[in-house]
Amino acid sequence: MSLSAPKKTSFRIGVIIGSQRKPRCGDQITDFVLNTIKSHQDSKQPGQRQITFQVIDIAGLDLPLFDEPGVPSQIKDPSGYAHEHTRAWSRTVAALDAFVFVTPQYNWGIPAGLKNALDYLFNEWKGKPAMVVAYGGHGGDKCAAAMKVVLGGGLDMKVVDETVNLSFPSRGVLYKAAGGEDLGLDAGSERSMWAGERSKIVEVWEKMEQSL
Ligand SMILES: Cc1cc2nc3c(=O)[nH]c(=O)nc-3n(C[C@H](O)[C@H](O)[C@H](O)COP(=O)(O)O)c2cc1C
Repeated sequence: MSLSAPKKTSFRIGVIIGSQRKPRCGDQITDFVLNTIKSHQDSKQPGQRQITFQVIDIAGLDLPLFDEPGVPSQIKDPSGYAHEHTRAWSRTVAALDAFVFVTPQYNWGIPAGLKNALDYLFNEWKGKPAMVVAYGGHGGDKCAAAMKVVLGGGLDMKVVDETVNLSFPSRGVLYKAAGGEDLGLDAGSERSMWAGERSKIVEVWEKMEQSL
């Protein structure tokens, strides 16, 4: 008889919308990414693993600019946080096993609201798998690179080395995205603008899933 703890078979994945503008396109892009991952999961042979997803909208967190007196890496228990908004965010992140970050690139970097939400916590992120999907006029590669440094280096997460970089194919689409107009993203359609990117999303997802 084994005395080791039973192997975990059920995993909860946080899917984070990194944009908090109004209007924005980040919610549509997150739907596209999540639906791509879900239909891939549905197409697999049912295994022993049960995977569920929880979408987390940075815009809905109502976190003020970082206002904790302590350094998050030194706080091992949520009672060590001064503010209820931090304890609530801590509970959300602590309950999740891995994260799909879907984020725009702002001025070659990470949107401030997303960076702020990351900075609030440390031990709740530490050691957990993460993958990054970034988007922008040139695919958001600068933001994706910065996210890898912050998640992997700063927060000690197991971040997949490859990122998904989604480029707006024209200035017209960039303007539509900025105005929050419908981009016609349908994860099930071969004709949708990023149909060719779905295999990359799945490839990076698979790498993250393997590290759960
Ligand atoms: C503050 C700000 C900075 C931006 N910087 C970049 C950038 O560095 N590169 C880029 O390709 N697009 C940039 N854009 C354009 C965004 O790609 C585009 O507005 C997109 O819709 C932003 O995503 P969101 O609608 O989910 O916020 C920027 C947009 C904003 C609002």
